[in-house]
Amino acid sequence: MLKHLLLTVVVLLPAGAMAQESEIPLLHAGTDINNIDSLQRGARNFMNYCSGCHSLKYLRYNRMAQDLKMTEPELAANLMFTSSKAVDTINSAMPSDAETWFGKQPPDLSLIARSKGVDYLYSFLHGFYADKTRIWGVNNLYLPNAAMPHVLEDRQGLQKPVFKNEPDDHGSARMVLVGVDAMTPGAMKPEEYDQFVRDTVNFLDYAGEPVKAKRQSMGIFVTLFLLVFLAFAYLLKKEYWKDVH
Ligand code: HEC
Repeated sequence: MLKHLLLTVVVLLPAGAMAQESEIPLLHAGTDINNIDSLQRGARNFMNYCSGCHSLKYLRYNRMAQDLKMTEPELAANLMFTSSKAVDTINSAMPSDAETWFGKQPPDLSLIARSKGVDYLYSFLHGFYADKTRIWGVNNLYLPNAAMPHVLEDRQGLQKPVFKNEPDDHGSARMVLVGVDAMTPGAMKPEEYDQFVRDTVNFLDYAGEPVKAKRQSMGIFVTLFLLVFLAFAYLLKKEYWKDVH
């Protein structure tokens, strides 16, 4: 049995490794879903820089306003640029034939934080680098040959790829992409850009599960309740058994 298991692991491992999009270690996002200011900034970033191409089809504007502690007029003034109504879900301005422009349809981002994780998203938005062979002049460290342009280039600036010489299986040297380095500056300092991306990713994390913050605080409450209940149950047990001994 153990042998079988081991064999399966050995056979599956290379397949798993190949399915991975990139082997470069991810950056740490450091998001906090309870930080309402960060979520509000993230929502604004998303609406300004992402919603032109990406939808959030499971999130309604009015739900978002409520969770992000905004009034509907504030919402309309800051976050609703299309003729949507507050009960609408967040659609992108992208026509359905966008695939012909990008080679790929920009995906709906409702569940992206749940499927790929916040660290991946944070890394992906830090991963664009200049590559003249690509149609938009950029490639991505974490999603090789990404069809998405570097929409935050004016914020971050442009990065250049860093290669390392590594021998391949046959012993001959080849260039391997190992990272990126700053090349031309953008409007933001690196820390500002980090915060900008952190807020945006935080918002995507919220959008993937609007009840997450509530669920977590409920979890703490339930655990505390169970602990108090345990104490009482223990006292009661002692009371019942004290005459038996
Ligand atoms: C001009 C259109 C456009 C804009 C604006 C845009 N994207 Fe994209 N995005 C795309 C396209 C096209 C893809 C598909 C890329 C692919 O699969 O190669 C994509 C893919 C993605 C993915 C999926 C990556 C993956 O691993 O599959 C994420 C995450 C993403 N975009 C986040 C964002 C965020 C966050 C913003 C705003 C800061 C944004 N995008 C703005 C076009 C856009």
